[in-house]
Amino acid sequence: MKKIVAIYPGSFDPPTNGHLDLIARGSKIFDQLIVAILRNAEKAPLFGLPERVLMLESMTAEFKNVEVATFDGLMVEYAAKVKADAVLRGIRAISDYEYELQMALMNRKLHPELETVFMMPAEQYSYLSSRLVREIAQLGGSIKDLVPVMVEQRIKEKLDPAVKLQHARNPTKRRKRG
Ligand code: PNS
Repeated sequence: MKKIVAIYPGSFDPPTNGHLDLIARGSKIFDQLIVAILRNAEKAPLFGLPERVLMLESMTAEFKNVEVATFDGLMVEYAAKVKADAVLRGIRAISDYEYELQMALMNRKLHPELETVFMMPAEQYSYLSSRLVREIAQLGGSIKDLVPVMVEQRIKEKLDPAVKLQHARNPTKRRKRG
């Protein structure tokens, strides 16, 4: 029987618990799910591409049918290259719908064979976005429960070099904290 391959494209700067929730849901309904990080989405991203790849690989290690990749150019061209049947996108609230509908229909115009599948993340992530996580972290607020602990730690290191220095001096302690 034909295996259904889907891509889950996005910027993932940073990846959040909402993304992880969607990946978990997608991995249940698709045979293979490729988390596809867009290269050069933002001129000054918080995390470089290799860091985002590492974080997402670590977050998705438990899902055996999920892999992490990067792409640039048109998403539909990348989808064709990896022979994807579907694009997975999350819809959190009605406000996402207009943009997502426009993008899905434009992608369908460009590549009629590619289906867009929308899934809803768990309710507790319906107000969560990478942009808000970046903003809250940059302004010193707590991002606990919004991103995995490992991402939270990396954001702290990025925004406060003293944290990084402390961990570089004491790497064992850092490993224990996960
Ligand atoms: O996480 P994001 O930033 O909402 O993801 C947006 C993304 C990466 C899915 C979208 O910008 C995209 O597909 N970009 C690739 C360029 C492209 O295909 N543009 C035409 C969209 S109709």
